[in-house]
Amino acid sequence: MTGGTLSLVQISDLHILADDDRPQHGTRTAEILRQAIPLVNALRPDFAIASGDLVSDESEDSYRRLEELLASVEAPVHFLLGNHDNRVAFRRVFRPAEIPSSEPVCEAFERAGVRFLLLDSLLPGKEEGSLGPHQLRWLETELSAHPDRPTWVFLHHQPLPIYIRWLDQLGLQNREQFLSLLARHRQVRVVGYGHIHQARRWRYGDVLFAGVPALAFQFSTVSQEPRITLETPAFRRFEISGTQHRSWLHFLDGRVVQEPGPLATPIYVR
Ligand SMILES: [Fe+2]
Ligand SMILES: [Fe+2]
Repeated sequence: MTGGTLSLVQISDLHILADDDRPQHGTRTAEILRQAIPLVNALRPDFAIASGDLVSDESEDSYRRLEELLASVEAPVHFLLGNHDNRVAFRRVFRPAEIPSSEPVCEAFERAGVRFLLLDSLLPGKEEGSLGPHQLRWLETELSAHPDRPTWVFLHHQPLPIYIRWLDQLGLQNREQFLSLLARHRQVRVVGYGHIHQARRWRYGDVLFAGVPALAFQFSTVSQEPRITLETPAFRRFEISGTQHRSWLHFLDGRVVQEPGPLATPIYVR
């Protein structure tokens, strides 16, 4: 943290497999992650958030390979799970001190006066996501306990539609419950997510909703049917100073694109 500015990197949809050489839609995801890590380290973020679909096949061996690959990330990494993840296998590798239960993986922490709430929208056996009653209660309790702290919420599945039919069918199924809960707590600044394998940003109320590209293959931003594109993978960097924030997309080919501020971001109209 420099001069009261917090720096965080969101990487998403890593889709790692135990076998580095097994291609997925023409990509080798371990190679992509290996290329991304020096870029992340050069930015010296205070921490990173890996927002789900950490692996592609729910297997413990894939999590072990992910752990090896992430060993060279210098910043602490916080995890959330997506539809290709498995809570038991994840816990066995990344939370060895915990009982390897299939309970949702949630985390709350605070840095420089900003609270971060990481939710688990995984619905076992499904591609779409949902926040169960325990998650919603946990979120309500966390937000009620710290009404004065600017708060950032992360989950895997998109809570607002992106107008890509097949992906919207696989988004957060109980988004109305989630959105109405958030609306009762004015301190929420940003909701970050993955799953859509493309960059999307909406302003809804006072909250910035932001989906991030994958560190793997991307999904078409125009096709209404599933279509993979080989656009350059990217991750997002945020800088946070109190209630203000800025963000950039960092593409693996070296392009860095600053994103418009919240006031220049399209408003989501219901
Ligand atoms: Fe994904
Ligand atoms: Fe996903």
